[in-house]
Amino acid sequence: MSRASRALILERFGSLPVLRERPVPDRKPGETLLRVRTAQVGHLDLDVVEGTFGLLPDLPSVPGTEACGEVVASDTHQPGSLVRVRGGGVGLRRDGGWADHLVAPDNAVVAVPQGTDPAVACSFFSPAATAWAAVHAVAAVKPGERVVVTGAAGAVGAMTVQVAARAGAEVIGVVGRPAKLAHVPSPAKAVLAADLSIEATGGPADVLVDTVGGSVLTAALPLVRPRGRAALVGYTAGREFTVDLAHFLLADVAILPVNLLSRSRELVDVGDRLLAEISEGTLHLPIERFGLDDLAEAVRRLRGGKVVGKAVFELT
Ligand SMILES: NC(=O)c1ccc[n+]([C@@H]2O[C@H](COP(=O)([O-])OP(=O)(O)OC[C@H]3O[C@@H](n4cnc5c(N)ncnc54)[C@H](OP(=O)(O)O)[C@@H]3O)[C@@H](O)[C@H]2O)c1
Repeated sequence: MSRASRALILERFGSLPVLRERPVPDRKPGETLLRVRTAQVGHLDLDVVEGTFGLLPDLPSVPGTEACGEVVASDTHQPGSLVRVRGGGVGLRRDGGWADHLVAPDNAVVAVPQGTDPAVACSFFSPAATAWAAVHAVAAVKPGERVVVTGAAGAVGAMTVQVAARAGAEVIGVVGRPAKLAHVPSPAKAVLAADLSIEATGGPADVLVDTVGGSVLTAALPLVRPRGRAALVGYTAGREFTVDLAHFLLADVAILPVNLLSRSRELVDVGDRLLAEISEGTLHLPIERFGLDDLAEAVRRLRGGKVVGKAVFELT
């Protein structure tokens, strides 16, 4: 095809992708071509741009691991229907959604209910499914337990606060800066990371869900009671974590990884339910919207911990 189509092209790891025109990509059998309406800008995408993630594409490549758009051509999806794309190596091993057009394997394409906000459709799954996995599948939170959530105004953290509260937990939401206190969803008690203590949380925690890592994880872990659980989700504040084995054994806290990539398939139905609840407004996911030519600003806000909720490209 010769029609022009814009794409953010990553030419070198560690430098920002550049907006260029290219032909609309060709589709093979078993693939879907879509006109992208929205694409998420997430930490995973920035790790790919930096070249620090465990799976990386050959360059040049288009980043963007999650997108939503209208089907242009497909063997399995109705032309004109709204779909979301995630998985199948999209944005990791093959071109992703930071472009006007995207070709994705059919098994990475999921129909989206009519009337869904495309910005929600491209961005809800990672925070909502990760929160659900952390609270239910990994930490197995029970009613009445005290749950501390770090990064509680972030996308995953804010969703985790809501999912844990619905599970009947008493939730304490920890944020790094005063401006974020007001963005911790109710009914959680909001606490500044600098003020973190057993007194501030109202007693030892049964469960910690950490979305921040680094020094925040080091400060929050001692708040968990013996035989409690710590579910580790993210590492925006630092990916290194040192364990003193003597302290670790004495503390007797189970440190558990949350891995959305390995759990995605089992969470498809949960994802559909959570999308419906976000669309109905019973779960809240704030979204900051950017144009494709605003990449630098989106990255600056995300890397600086300034985004409240999800950052999303809206394409016209
Ligand atoms: N394990 C998984 O499968 C999985 C799935 C989804 C996401 N994640 C990871 O989970 C983490 C959180 O994702 P998210 O979408 O919730 O991100 P987010 O919305 O940007 O929230 C991250 C929070 O981390 C805090 N933070 C502290 N230092 C920071 C720094 N240097 N840069 C940016 N933020 C910083 C910020 O809160 P304060 O200002 O309150 O400190 C920010 O709100 C990321 O590392 C992401 O890669 C993991």
